[in-house]
Amino acid sequence: MTRRHGLSTIAIHGRPHRRPDWSPVVTPLYQSSTFRNPVDSQDEVLYTRYGNNPNQVELARKYALLEGAERAIFLASGMAATALAHLAVLRPGDHLVSSLWIYGGTRVLFDGEFARHGISITYVDPDKPREWRKAIARNTRAIFVEALTNPVMRVLNVPLLAKLASEHGIALLVDSTFASPINFRPLEHGADIVITSATKYINGHSDVIAGAVAGSAAVIDEITRLMRAWGPAIDPHAAWLTERGLKTMALRVERANTNAMAVATWASTRPEFTAVYYPGLRTHPDHALATKIFDGYGGLVGLVLKGGAPAAKKFLQRLKVVTHAPSLAGVESLISEPRLTSHKPLTAAERASQGVPDGFLRLSCGCEDPEDLIDDLAGALQ
Ligand SMILES: Cc1ncc(COP(=O)(O)O)c(C=O)c1O
Repeated sequence: MTRRHGLSTIAIHGRPHRRPDWSPVVTPLYQSSTFRNPVDSQDEVLYTRYGNNPNQVELARKYALLEGAERAIFLASGMAATALAHLAVLRPGDHLVSSLWIYGGTRVLFDGEFARHGISITYVDPDKPREWRKAIARNTRAIFVEALTNPVMRVLNVPLLAKLASEHGIALLVDSTFASPINFRPLEHGADIVITSATKYINGHSDVIAGAVAGSAAVIDEITRLMRAWGPAIDPHAAWLTERGLKTMALRVERANTNAMAVATWASTRPEFTAVYYPGLRTHPDHALATKIFDGYGGLVGLVLKGGAPAAKKFLQRLKVVTHAPSLAGVESLISEPRLTSHKPLTAAERASQGVPDGFLRLSCGCEDPEDLIDDLAGALQ
């Protein structure tokens, strides 16, 4: 058996093969909605909404290899990926068991849209692991979790949940956006479907909105069918930019891991922070699990600043290297306040009960020099 290539090689070359002389080194941009078809051909027509534009195809091929999946598909956003991945396995009357610790947009999709289409949902607090089994009903078809959660960076026990799902003959879907395939590949741990907001680490340059799903050929065929019907195909230019970003993903994620570890270690020594959440720290509740199943602890750090919202305001106004913006996983470090973003619908008391008091800052470490990040943060504490 030939050795599987490393993740950096795959991200750059896909499955390396000898290329013809004078062929371009980079996939050309096929900014074309349609393609000249042979007259009287019975073959499938090429049309960009169908997901068979060469930029869409090449990108999906590489991503499938990275996740260790049979197939993959890219869509116009992470939300489109989440929606279609679930609709591929759920029908009206079905039941979904979801982790309580999920992205707010996904919660809106589940409670607002899925409920309207007759799909019921039970949320489980992952801190009560016995509840997973109890939540599974006769009509349960799937379990959904985020592998690494926002903003306190909890790590879900994917191998254990995969075993539970398999015992019940149901699918395990894992949103692995925060981890990236460099740090964690859910399919290797028994998950059936992996979902990612490619807006984040896959593209990595804060200039594209995209999503992807990887899994079996049957699931990806069904998502392709849904994409053709509902329409959220990725634009060729977004796919081209994402393929370019993907080539450096391993380098970017490794640097983000190193930077986040440096920042978290430094922040732990500063009295201005009452708590630091990073799975790479021994003090993190999921440090042992992260060490066991992840290849890296990620680029995101949760920081709780003494002095609440007024202190956070002053701190954010002083930052120069780190940009105050939502989103994450770009080469530039970004910081945001969950009280104004992901946790805005909750009351201050509810936020505090979830470990996200006012003064909580979510930092996405980019690829800058770690000393400059720490200097910037230290300067803003003055
Ligand atoms: C974990 C997670 N999943 C999905 C999404 C949705 O992705 P997109 O904004 O690309 O639609 C986000 C967005 O922040 C996210 O954080």
